[in-house]
Amino acid sequence: MRFRYLYTLCLTLFVAGFASAQNVRKTESFNSNWKFFLGDDSTANNVKYDDSRWRKLDLPHDWSIEGKFDSKNPTTQAEGGLPAGIGWYRKSFLIPASSKTKTILIDFDGVFHNSEVWINGHYLAKRPNGYISFRYDLTPYLKFGTQQNVIAVRVDNSDQPNSRWYTGSGIYRNVWLTTANKIHLPQWSSFITTPQVDHQKAEIYIRTVLPVSVNSKFKLKASVLDDNGKIVGSVTTTVKDTIIQQSIQVNNPQLWSINHPYLYKVKLQLLAADKVIDDYTTTTGIRYFNFDADKGFSLNGEPMKIHGVCLHHDQGALGTAVNTRAIERQLQILKDMGCNAIRTSHNPPAPELLDLCDKMGFLVMDEAFDMWKKKKSKHDYHEDWDEWHVKDLQDQVLRDRNHPSVFAWSIGNEIREQFDSTGVSIGRELVKIVKQLDNTRPVTSALSDADPKKNFIYQSGALDLIGLNYHQEVYADFKKNYPGQKFIGTENMSALATRGHYDMPSDSIRRWPKDGKTPLKDGNADLTVSAYDNVSAYWGSTHEETWKIIKKYDFLSGLFVWTGFDYIGEPTPYLWPARSSYFGIVDLAGFPKDIYYMYQSEWTNKPVLHLLPHWNWKPGQMIDVWAYYNNADEVEAFLNGKSIGVRKKNGEDLHVMWRVKYEPGVLKAVSRRNGEVVLATEVVTAGEPYKIQLKADRDKIKADGKDLSYITVSVLDKNNVPVPDANQLVKFKVTGQGILKGVDNGSQTDLEPFVSDQHHLFNGLGLAIIQSKAVAGEITITATAGGLKPAHLIIESNRIAFKLQLQK
Ligand code: GAL
Repeated sequence: MRFRYLYTLCLTLFVAGFASAQNVRKTESFNSNWKFFLGDDSTANNVKYDDSRWRKLDLPHDWSIEGKFDSKNPTTQAEGGLPAGIGWYRKSFLIPASSKTKTILIDFDGVFHNSEVWINGHYLAKRPNGYISFRYDLTPYLKFGTQQNVIAVRVDNSDQPNSRWYTGSGIYRNVWLTTANKIHLPQWSSFITTPQVDHQKAEIYIRTVLPVSVNSKFKLKASVLDDNGKIVGSVTTTVKDTIIQQSIQVNNPQLWSINHPYLYKVKLQLLAADKVIDDYTTTTGIRYFNFDADKGFSLNGEPMKIHGVCLHHDQGALGTAVNTRAIERQLQILKDMGCNAIRTSHNPPAPELLDLCDKMGFLVMDEAFDMWKKKKSKHDYHEDWDEWHVKDLQDQVLRDRNHPSVFAWSIGNEIREQFDSTGVSIGRELVKIVKQLDNTRPVTSALSDADPKKNFIYQSGALDLIGLNYHQEVYADFKKNYPGQKFIGTENMSALATRGHYDMPSDSIRRWPKDGKTPLKDGNADLTVSAYDNVSAYWGSTHEETWKIIKKYDFLSGLFVWTGFDYIGEPTPYLWPARSSYFGIVDLAGFPKDIYYMYQSEWTNKPVLHLLPHWNWKPGQMIDVWAYYNNADEVEAFLNGKSIGVRKKNGEDLHVMWRVKYEPGVLKAVSRRNGEVVLATEVVTAGEPYKIQLKADRDKIKADGKDLSYITVSVLDKNNVPVPDANQLVKFKVTGQGILKGVDNGSQTDLEPFVSDQHHLFNGLGLAIIQSKAVAGEITITATAGGLKPAHLIIESNRIAFKLQLQK
């Protein structure tokens, strides 16, 4: 057995070594062994600066999430009240003597914000935009062999407030180091499109901009590889110009779609005298889509409603520090709900999000800005607009235009220029910038003024797609008011809910706040909001109200619900200590609110029967019981074995309801089709809290120092019934090859830190996020709370080669 393992390991290493020997260009993670100092020191860019007392850490890193919530923090409640400020990062590193003849490039995927970078004391540049990816050429300033190089990065997020949501602070995305030959393919130099696609054949068209130093002695070879790595077509072109256009036909192509996200790769090799001097591989997908003014959206010729959600970029307790598994979990939860599209509100996303959307089958509306020249917060991007917007928008399009998931560009969200004539000129300018770099995707802007006569961005005539935020009351008349135009709901609902909290009567709808002038006075004293889908902000609607409209008309191509997950900041409708949003279909910790199942019953074909609320009330209290269901004609509910009635959805109904006098026991629901039971579910009255339960989303993770296991913490009574209002303080101890990375409970008002070894539960649930170390082995998690039986859980953290062997 041991021998077989060693054999597999050696084989893996051999293959990996062989593969990299084939690659001329080398791109490595540059995340490890940085030094960090929270504060400012104008001498910290000096090579000889003594950073020995600085904290050692690996990137990506968000320092704000490590801080304390405080209403006095200058970020304000809008950004969640976490601290910001200035921070410095430094890293010492060696570059082998063998790289003396090479070009060494550093790529920052995103730094929030106002980053300034020095290499060996030499100032490279400043990049204000915190969401944009940028590259510097380090080559002229590097030392080789045994001489140390020092890179220093100053990050200034002290210009507060500068956002309407939590941004995080620091080098919060990945950093890469690329070693290439002096003559190499420039950054984002190729544009891959699929101008002709049908089920029999597709044309992959590649347009590459070469460095000026190449001449007719060079050739560019392009190969298309299928997802097994098999070459399915290639072409070699002698360089005659700095722009090379190549076309490869793929027969019987596998089309990329939401349910079948098949990916190809395009490998480019730059050849000099038939020797490869640079190579670069891009993932692509073959698909076509269309927006139609009458029929709505179609993908690969098939009509499809866009079931989208807007997402901000924080990962709850992990802050904004990019972690691929955290993003993947978020997308998996949304995929299970039937979500098929993401709007990256309101900024360019981490590249990992787009890679995952390509792989998992999501469409992406890639958004550039939340403001143009006119500000929304005192120190936001409007300050950088004049100098940077052209470059930032170009770089976003260049970086993201090869992703099959990206299907639309948004040049801005609720931009204030829509209200005056500058909306015409800037709107046209931005659309032109996008079109010069990508003419294959529609451009939209998320408009909040739905009057076509008054909206200047609409008046610019430059938009391909009319994106409306809210104003669902005008959607039915869209074709009349916007003749010949194509519709997309760029942002909808802004319904509010706290997971596990229910205010009755459930069928009376509250608008919190009721208008723009009246602060909310009749909210709940504990700053909760009912989860019956009976509360929304006045500018929006409940989930059901808008979904019924979008569902009804084919010309309404779809929508993006505000939001998929709760996010830190913007805690409408409450003031401090509310510090995170109530808009999510899923709470900040990743626990679905009840409305998740309404969408699942509408957006998927899997059988759904979801019953709410919990069943711990005061005897005699009148309780509204709701069920979301599909694939059935009716639902019958039973209280302690006695039928309380059969309910059917009529007309546009999206749920059924019973009003019953509470008695403790078992509330059960059964859905039936043609008299046959489809599903049954129940909620049971819980007794006294007795023990803690830990459940991992994955009990085997990778020992790579990054992978995560999300542990749901709950409290059960003696009969293993979950206690719905459990709110105990739970203490965690993690030993072995993992660490406790963050804790949360999904409450919007909890001011306990996310980085801690203890946290209260909220409405019965808590979350502990475990991260692997780079060493394989077991991770043991122990959870204790006063008066409760503790719980233990073991996670296995495996080396990848070992895992591969196990899979065989
Ligand atoms: C919209 C805005 C979003 C968010 C939302 C909250 O108007 O575009 O960024 O603020 O309101 O309802």
